[in-house]
Amino acid sequence: MKRALSKSVAAGILIAAAVLSLRVASQESRSPVAPRREVVEAVVREAYDKFRNDTNGKNADYIPYLAQVDSKLFGVAIVTTDNQVLTLGDVNYSFSIQSISKVFTLALAMDELGPDKVFQQIGSEPTGRAFNSVLAVVDMPTHTGNPLVNAGAIATTSLISGKDEDEKWNKILTFYGKIAGDKLTLIDEVYKSEAATNAGNKALAMLLAKYDRIYADPFESVDIYTKQCSVGVTAVQLARMGATLANNGKNPATGEQVIQSEDVPHILATMAMAGLYDGSGGWAWHVGLPAKSGVGGGIVAIAPGKGAIAVFAPPLDEAGNSVKAQEVIEYVARKLNYNLYSPSSVGLK
Ligand code: DON
Repeated sequence: MKRALSKSVAAGILIAAAVLSLRVASQESRSPVAPRREVVEAVVREAYDKFRNDTNGKNADYIPYLAQVDSKLFGVAIVTTDNQVLTLGDVNYSFSIQSISKVFTLALAMDELGPDKVFQQIGSEPTGRAFNSVLAVVDMPTHTGNPLVNAGAIATTSLISGKDEDEKWNKILTFYGKIAGDKLTLIDEVYKSEAATNAGNKALAMLLAKYDRIYADPFESVDIYTKQCSVGVTAVQLARMGATLANNGKNPATGEQVIQSEDVPHILATMAMAGLYDGSGGWAWHVGLPAKSGVGGGIVAIAPGKGAIAVFAPPLDEAGNSVKAQEVIEYVARKLNYNLYSPSSVGLK
């Protein structure tokens, strides 16, 4: 009788231990402060419906191709660090990544040279001016400003090593593909359209040469930079690129550590300060997430440890940031308590 009792007690303990370890394992795979999927789905749907008919803003037209992209396109994608994917709207349309590429070339430059060298050769100060400002290059002590304005980005591209232009460009494209977990390609019409109209960026590169703040041939650097801006991404691919940053540099879909984890805080800090150019202060105030915009109409925002949201909608505000993308991300971030500067984002009541 005694033996039978102790046997059943032992069996009970074993079952309890198994249940507990299952629970621990399932908790381990997700962040303790990540909201539930159905909550995220409902909030994204609300945001999508609320802003879909907003007609504010205007497509970029200084790159002629972008002026004729359908202004009504609108897609939202979220990828979490445990690789859940949520999508709504035009999420399979491939648009040009534009300035969002600057984030990932910065990651590659740090991978090759280390963060200290990149900080020294480019800097990380907000300019408070338009993304293509010549005055910022003249005025700022570093001239390059930061890696997310055109001048600093062209200088960052110039840091990428390679025996010739093709090798450098292919290295950048392959690196982006690993971050997206997909093969990415150049949208040739966008590249040709920008290459034919980018006298301003060539002028910035030559001005940087005057100050010794560009580290390869200025025109070659502008050409590679123009190609990197013309890479096509869907909202889902862009959200996965963001999720790789949110996941400490490890692509949540492929499991590959693509960006070194120690580089991630430098990248996110730079995005927080300059990701929306002269709109970055207002963005930090209202949203509190590192993000990056592109004149193609995309914005990706990162909730570190949780995931990333990418929105694509071509009409832009005065600073060159997608109007609807800002609205949707602000709405979702507020409802889901993502604001990085709010202690409640890590579960504090
Ligand atoms: O160099 C340019 O002007 C464009 N290829 C990229 C600018 C951009 O995306 C600024 N974004 N908001």
